[in-house]
Amino acid sequence: MSTENTADPQAFSEELAGSVTGVGLVWAQTSGGVIGKDGDMPWHLPEDLKHFNRLTMGHPVIMGRKTWLSFPDKYRPLPGRTNIVITRQKGWGESPEAKGAVVVPSLDDALLESQFVDGGETVWILGGGEVFRQSTDLANVAVVTTIDVEADGDTFAPELGETWEAAASVPPDGWLTAANGTQYRFTKWVRTQG
Ligand SMILES: NC(=O)c1ccc[n+]([C@@H]2O[C@H](COP(=O)([O-])OP(=O)(O)OC[C@H]3O[C@@H](n4cnc5c(N)ncnc54)[C@H](OP(=O)(O)O)[C@@H]3O)[C@@H](O)[C@H]2O)c1
Repeated sequence: MSTENTADPQAFSEELAGSVTGVGLVWAQTSGGVIGKDGDMPWHLPEDLKHFNRLTMGHPVIMGRKTWLSFPDKYRPLPGRTNIVITRQKGWGESPEAKGAVVVPSLDDALLESQFVDGGETVWILGGGEVFRQSTDLANVAVVTTIDVEADGDTFAPELGETWEAAASVPPDGWLTAANGTQYRFTKWVRTQG
């Protein structure tokens, strides 16, 4: 099955998990582009967490220090994945809050580190906003969950720009409806040049 033809969200996640290699971005946003507020995400969508885990499990994940700290203690590190965290702060890697992370001083170092760990043929950049803005020219895929809510935020999805195009959406038109009634959609973007 190809991602271009499926309308089933679980099949879409499975297909992406089995086919994406290289550097992928993965995020969830409101229709207005909000990805975060006050260090958290202003929605609750278990279906997206399941999708996120299916995509990223077994692969290294890269994130900024603030995204790492946005996870509750009990979910840090994300299990089954090497959690690579970037910070400019010397010595932060020795702090208690860094426990369980592989801490590196730059995005380049994070990408290099990702090549030496299990599952490194695919590496997922998890954000947040600051890290995504530095990543759109080096990733080849972006998997975006759009959530049909209006919410204020302080952190926004990156602009993908003209070198990116939407390759597949589930559903192709309209929305999926989660068990809690929230409407959402998955889109795979690919970078075509640059
Ligand atoms: N909706 C989603 O899918 C999603 C995904 C991820 C995050 N989020 C949300 O986004 C928010 C966090 O995003 P954010 O933009 O505030 O922060 P962020 O990108 O997670 O982290 C920023 C921090 O990362 C470090 N950093 C960034 N670029 C670096 C570089 N080139 N070299 C070294 N270190 C670097 C710096 O840490 P130091 O300050 O320690 O130097 C910087 O302060 C939260 O609200 C979170 O919930 C949402």
